[in-house]
Amino acid sequence: MKADLAIVGAGYVGMPLAQAFAEGGNKVVLVDVQREVVDGINRGESHIGDVSSEAVKQLIDEHRLTATTDYAAVAGVEAILIALPTPLSTQREPDLAILKAAAAEIASHLRAGQLVVLESTTYPGTTRECIQPILERSGLRAGQDFHLAFSPERVDPGRADWTTQNTPKLVGGITSACTERATELYRRAIATVVPVSSPEAAEMTKLLENIFRAVNIALVNELAQLCERMDIDVWEVVEAAETKPFGFMSFKPGPGLGGHCIPIDPFYLTWKAREYDFYTEFIELAGKVNANMPYFCRSLISQALNHYAQKSLSGSRILVLGVSYKADIDDVRETPAEKIISLLQRAGSDVSYHDPHVEEFDGLRSSPYSPEMYDCVVIVTAHTAIDYDELIERAQLVVDLRNATGGNGARSGKVWKL
Ligand SMILES: NC(=O)c1ccc[n+]([C@@H]2O[C@H](COP(=O)([O-])OP(=O)(O)OC[C@H]3O[C@@H](n4cnc5c(N)ncnc54)[C@H](O)[C@@H]3O)[C@@H](O)[C@H]2O)c1
Repeated sequence: MKADLAIVGAGYVGMPLAQAFAEGGNKVVLVDVQREVVDGINRGESHIGDVSSEAVKQLIDEHRLTATTDYAAVAGVEAILIALPTPLSTQREPDLAILKAAAAEIASHLRAGQLVVLESTTYPGTTRECIQPILERSGLRAGQDFHLAFSPERVDPGRADWTTQNTPKLVGGITSACTERATELYRRAIATVVPVSSPEAAEMTKLLENIFRAVNIALVNELAQLCERMDIDVWEVVEAAETKPFGFMSFKPGPGLGGHCIPIDPFYLTWKAREYDFYTEFIELAGKVNANMPYFCRSLISQALNHYAQKSLSGSRILVLGVSYKADIDDVRETPAEKIISLLQRAGSDVSYHDPHVEEFDGLRSSPYSPEMYDCVVIVTAHTAIDYDELIERAQLVVDLRNATGGNGARSGKVWKL
């Protein structure tokens, strides 16, 4: 198969993107370092929840999709899209090692006339200051010999209404010709493409979107802590505020941030801002409030055990229900469940977990669903596969950090809610 475009990184972003382009009539090659991921795709198996194995199998059989570990595959394509992880280092600074290594591989195969687009979330300036010089080691000039742009991915894993195909896509090139070329490419797979003036504008827009979520979640998490002290139901307050048809957008409190984006991306901007003697105080404050939530939740669990069962955390059997970072998906990256489990273990609790989507987690295996066997069941992630009314019947005590039990929980007399 001669591919039209290459997507580097066959993960949560790369897989749906490859499907969108292949179904849009393009031949796509996925390049990934993980041999087992590549072999799985070529057998017609998907490892990403949003992309079905049936869809992958069909695209493979029709020679519209293939996967490889060999970067040489980028040499013959028209466009190369980079969808690689952008983590933080242990000191919480941007770690672009993966991006840099991939850019160096791409540079050694780059051809005149190709388009390269970075999709990974990162600080403003990455495309021009970091990726462009590495690609130019090829001897080719960005904007003259090849096109270069940034186009942030906005996929929300597990979501069916807004997908890669119908979520508007931003594109900012290092020249206007680069923007036009990238816009033209994305129009083949994505319904609405929105050009912006530069890669920096596109990079900053993606961060604004994620910071907006981090800050608003922190605001409602802070309010949840105050409501607990004032004996007001924060869930009732948020639902009541939702009845205002304008000027309010609803965010829910919870046990803390999770996933590859919201807990990490804002700190890419914090780091970059320091270069300009600027301190991103909203981001830091939101980070502090959100990071405190697992500790606050531990104290709720402790209070609930004291109040309902005259028990302490030490020695109690606790079932954590749901460990993925959000409902109905299997992604455990940055999940607050990890912190909550470790805090409970440190307090001397005997902790098990049950998650219909996650078989193994943090050295534990998902336990059979027997809520009656525990002193307390803690709902960390509200998967829809669980019948919460039945849980209330069966469990001795429930701490509900997601309002999964709703009004029935409040009436039951054995549910303690965030
Ligand atoms: N997951 C999301 O919901 C989401 C949403 C929007 C934006 N993003 C951003 O998109 C980017 C990618 O995230 P993701 O969730 O798809 O990551 P991921 O970890 O799911 O996938 C990345 C893939 O890249 C592969 N890989 C790692 N190093 C490689 C290398 N040197 N060469 C080739 N392949 C390599 C990995 O094996 C993996 O399959 C990140 O910057 C992320 O912040 C993610």
